Amino acid sequence: MTLSHGSLVTIDDLSNAEIEAVFSLADEMAGEIDKQLDVCKGKIMASLFFEPSTRTRLSFEAAMHRLGGNVIGVVDAKATSLAKGESIADMARIVGSYADIIVIRHPWEGAARVVADYSGVPVINAGDGGHQHPTQTLLDLYTIKKERHAIQGLNIALWGDLKYGRTIHSLIFALAKFGANILFCPSPGLEVPPNIVRKLITEYGGEIESKEETADRNKEGSFPIDAVYITPSSPHQLAMMPDVNIEVELRKGVDALYVTRPQKERFAEGEDREDKELPVVDKRLLRGKEFKKALVMHPLPRVDELAYDVDADPRSRYFKQAAYGVPIRMALLALLLDCKECVVKEDVVSAKGYDYPVYDRGYAVKCPNPVCVSVQETETKYLKPEFKIVNRDPLTLRCVYCEHGFEPGYVASVDWHEGKLDTKKYHSADSHFARKIKPGNLVLFDSESEARELGYKPSSYVKHASSRK
Ligand code: NCD
Repeated sequence: MTLSHGSLVTIDDLSNAEIEAVFSLADEMAGEIDKQLDVCKGKIMASLFFEPSTRTRLSFEAAMHRLGGNVIGVVDAKATSLAKGESIADMARIVGSYADIIVIRHPWEGAARVVADYSGVPVINAGDGGHQHPTQTLLDLYTIKKERHAIQGLNIALWGDLKYGRTIHSLIFALAKFGANILFCPSPGLEVPPNIVRKLITEYGGEIESKEETADRNKEGSFPIDAVYITPSSPHQLAMMPDVNIEVELRKGVDALYVTRPQKERFAEGEDREDKELPVVDKRLLRGKEFKKALVMHPLPRVDELAYDVDADPRSRYFKQAAYGVPIRMALLALLLDCKECVVKEDVVSAKGYDYPVYDRGYAVKCPNPVCVSVQETETKYLKPEFKIVNRDPLTLRCVYCEHGFEPGYVASVDWHEGKLDTKKYHSADSHFARKIKPGNLVLFDSESEARELGYKPSSYVKHASSRK
């Protein structure tokens, strides 16, 4: 049996059983790392890194060399035809005709998804903007599993930039899939984005409890926790949790403290403020009793958030975590290239597959995320915006490329009374009339001017932009 999705674009592409299968193959390969030279003999991996990387690129390339395969690649967009205005899709088609598998890191969110759609070969997302970094998540989970044996029921604290950290975004869903409790400890202003919180609640059936800002928060030695996410004990049911008490959770202690650096390169203008800082994770902070048995993890690189005095602490795991990148990526490459078979046990714990209605009319509404692949000039020539309708009240869309969530302002129905132009009306998306339109009939607009340009007139269910909240 091979992995069910030919590519790994988001962590949702792997079931729990498949993740476990990657881990057991990684164990097997790590045991005899220099005896795997026949596994991918003759195969070519294209390594396309359009953003800085040390660990991810080198561990992928080392993994392919360890498997006896070959590597071709680029580390600079300026050295490719992307700099001449070539689209991601064209580049993907070409590279897919030269290589058997593509590993891509790109600043545009959803870029890996486009490469997977157009290249015709398996694709691995090595980080797409602030969206996801699923292979980092595999080695993060592997590290926790190696040390704690099971993930279910562990308390894992996520610390730092939870807004732009792509490693965090993939890890949140993976931890939820495996039934861990997640404690959010964001730097002020860098909280988990609402689209991720929504997915945790609706698709993983969990509960979020927020801790009110208290005077305690800044008290020395206190744990600056912002919210706790608890996976229901039975993820198959949308079981409602009994009241969760953060204090009780914390008394049990943290099993892993996952520290991240502020992703300053992704900050919007004016976001780079000093007050975004949490205390530095150092020996002194780790004296807190909640950290007594905590593994200290970090995807690296670190800047100032994790002190060098932790390196010698027996709880530090970040260098070991990075080293696991090679066997994990060897296992993944071998499986995606069909060079190894895996035994996938029946999946007992996996996220509920959600079949949301899709909106793909392709005009008038576009993803508001400025770093989404679907809004880039070179890509709009062929990519049709596509969204999942994840909620009707308020009407909420999720971009299929970058997973950004947003609420469009105005709607109409294609079913406009036998095509009489004077009844071609648009309405405010939050009006009672708008909620009655069947998903398949919806036409969505970002603004009233777009609706007017397409020949629609305001109905009495329109709140004009100035009067909308
Ligand atoms: C991370 C990344 O690139 O997202 N690093 C990595 O892949 N090991 C984290 C970071 O850059 O902060």
